Amino acid sequence: MPDPQLVQDAPALYRREQAVLAATQRLRFFPLAVVAGEGCRLVEEGGRRVLDLSASWAIASLGYGHPAVRDAVSRAMSAMAGVGLVSTCNVEAVQLAEALLACTPGTGERRVYLGHSGSDANEATVRTIRRATGRPGVLAFHGSYHGGLAGSSQFSGLMVDAGEQADGDLSLLPYPSGPSAAEDAQATLTQLDALLEQRGDTIAALLCEPIVSDGGVLVPPPGFLAAVHERLTSAGVLLVCDEVKVGLGRTGLLHAFQHEGITPDVVTFGKALGGGLPISAAVGPAHVFDTAEAFTMLGTAGNPVAAAAAGAVLRTIVEEDLAGAAAARGDQLRAGLEQLRSRHPAVVDVRGRGLSLGVQLGATSTAAKVCYRAWELGLVLYPVGPDSDVLEITPPLVISPAEVEEALALLDQALADVEAGAVSDETVGRYQGW
Ligand SMILES: Cc1ncc(COP(=O)(O)O)c(C=O)c1O
Repeated sequence: MPDPQLVQDAPALYRREQAVLAATQRLRFFPLAVVAGEGCRLVEEGGRRVLDLSASWAIASLGYGHPAVRDAVSRAMSAMAGVGLVSTCNVEAVQLAEALLACTPGTGERRVYLGHSGSDANEATVRTIRRATGRPGVLAFHGSYHGGLAGSSQFSGLMVDAGEQADGDLSLLPYPSGPSAAEDAQATLTQLDALLEQRGDTIAALLCEPIVSDGGVLVPPPGFLAAVHERLTSAGVLLVCDEVKVGLGRTGLLHAFQHEGITPDVVTFGKALGGGLPISAAVGPAHVFDTAEAFTMLGTAGNPVAAAAAGAVLRTIVEEDLAGAAAARGDQLRAGLEQLRSRHPAVVDVRGRGLSLGVQLGATSTAAKVCYRAWELGLVLYPVGPDSDVLEITPPLVISPAEVEEALALLDQALADVEAGAVSDETVGRYQGW
């Protein structure tokens, strides 16, 4: 059971944070304040160990403090081959680019951009494609999320739908999902055909998530992305697949787009790639990414320490077949979640792929309360979706079968407690959420 004091009053570290760190960086659902992490657990101030079913928004792909990452970081830090790529190259960044090219399907001569965060990888990609093609237009989907910087937020459907200023050359298409996904897909394709017919020669790229994650864990209907890609290719528009949240093994294959039978023109990576260190990447055609020198520079991009961490993450995922592990643990989790659905009226839908799963609840406040209660019980997960009513489940790929069972038992308890009225509106009202 949780420490009652911890539940009543936010921990001291949490209160100290509020006094010094900007609120613009916060998205909080409960006062989680950590001092350490190990495997799939975070250690709170006071020593309580909580099971992290979110991997900190799918970033801690190998969990916390994985020896492969720790050793790579410590080796790279001791050698310290410069700090970035602007006016020197370094061995760790070159090796990482070689590894990314080797593991990412694609044709023709390609190049790798290295950045710090999914947001800047997507932003640099769009800027570079616009520059290379001379076309200003960008397409994306309602509900999609591609980043939180000036450019990336302005072509993120989720943000624009919520009132963020849209990029002036952005067109958003509806994302097919739910029971009418097949008909919706046809309607979206018809809309895309019309757009391409009218002004295809002014459109540079379409950005898509192979599973819309923050927008509610929406898996595309079969054949939809392939049909989109075919149309884009005929119009000379590039398909950018944003694998930042669901890529690198999480869905049961190394790349989430591989479930769709497509080879995107550009693939962007982030989050999981660094296993907790800040690094992102884009892999795409040389004629696009070599367009102009000194065009998308960040002083510490290609940092050898972050690049070494990413190299270790990639190697571990491939050598230990963590995609296969994600498929197996995903099946186990999904079966358990389906059972919860049959027992708890609050659960409306269970969906996703591998270890990228969503549990839709009937109401926003229920989702906030279940997340809060789960944290009280020692389990970390967060809500997503335009209505914040979908519990997102994206644990570290190294989660064990026993940890999956433990998580399911805690979630079962949290649902039962919320159904019994254990969490008040006032308690969750203290945390802003999305
Ligand atoms: C699909 C997708 N793309 C891009 C981003 C932005 O990544 P970051 O927050 O690491 O900049 C996110 C973040 O949630 C994401 O889910």
